[in-house]
Amino acid sequence: EKGTYPHFMLKEIDEQPLVMRRIIQSYQDDFDRLKLAPEIRGAMKRCDRIYIIAAGTSYHAGLAGKQFLENMAGIPTEVHVASEFSYNMPLLSEHPLFVFISQSGETADSRSVLVKIKEMGHPALTITNVAGSTLSRESDFTLHLHAGPEIAVASTKAYTAQIAVLAILAVDTARAKEIRLDFDPLQELAIAANAIEVLTDQKETIEELVRSNLATTQNAFFIGRGSDYFVCLEGALKLKEISYIQAEGFAGGELKHGTIALIEEGTPVIALATQENVNYAIRSNVQEVVARGANDMIFSMRGLEQDSDAFVVPQVHELIAPLVSVVPMQLLAYYAALHRGCDVDKPRNLAKSVTVE
Ligand code: M6R
Repeated sequence: EKGTYPHFMLKEIDEQPLVMRRIIQSYQDDFDRLKLAPEIRGAMKRCDRIYIIAAGTSYHAGLAGKQFLENMAGIPTEVHVASEFSYNMPLLSEHPLFVFISQSGETADSRSVLVKIKEMGHPALTITNVAGSTLSRESDFTLHLHAGPEIAVASTKAYTAQIAVLAILAVDTARAKEIRLDFDPLQELAIAANAIEVLTDQKETIEELVRSNLATTQNAFFIGRGSDYFVCLEGALKLKEISYIQAEGFAGGELKHGTIALIEEGTPVIALATQENVNYAIRSNVQEVVARGANDMIFSMRGLEQDSDAFVVPQVHELIAPLVSVVPMQLLAYYAALHRGCDVDKPRNLAKSVTVE
């Protein structure tokens, strides 16, 4: 039920801190040990490469999760769009592990890859919000998102839950492989939950940004580098899906190779700056578009901010940043849809789960 909320999407955005805490509780015992099935740990230790298969928002969560699996667990990881995998299949490693990410567990594109790789004899782990879903039943192992039902077509809390569960999977593997980490990811997830809470209290600021920058625009660009780029892809998808503004997420350095031709006087360009190593570079990309008339909005992280930034998110560990920086992107999309009179929870042409290929 929506309760006092006008839309499920807004309720689900607000539920994210709670979901994050529920995930930490569900996967950790009283002695800080992680409660993952030994078979999953075994499969993670045995594999020499992970192939993440997903669609839409779940694909974007996979891109962020790849960072954990490579940086924490030391496993090379590829992320593939489910509907393309069979036609652009990479040369598989000797001991692949397939990880399917799907909120619904019913996405037909992902299922057809699952059927194919099971025929080939490879192991599969599904990360899903729906226990007993098709992908969960047909995989060897399942990890649950514990996000509670997600009703709005635009996925929000499932995305942050997927990234959190991927982080937990990576930490568990790192511990099993005795890889020493120089930070405590579980503690960082708890810090992220608090940060999201702070952000969900800043709705008015985001609504104001929408009123002055996105109320009537026909298009918008999201630019970022490193993991900010992945969040830009998600921010753009969210905005197109529910507000029908034509939006694209780009790697900041790639704009000048063609897309910058689309920048005109007043074109909104939303830039993410949460990563120290690319902070300078993304800001010069913003200068490039501003010089061509763009209307810039920089979303930075505390510690990296500059006075002219449109919005500053609380400081969290850089690897965890997508969990936090996506929240203002979700709110931008929400208020853009609201102010443009769109049906927020049920956008046109879309269903909650896509069960056709
Ligand atoms: O249930 P799934 O996670 O497999 O769904 C995948 C996509 O269809 C889904 O994430 C879609 O992109 C969302 N509506 C985006 O908000």
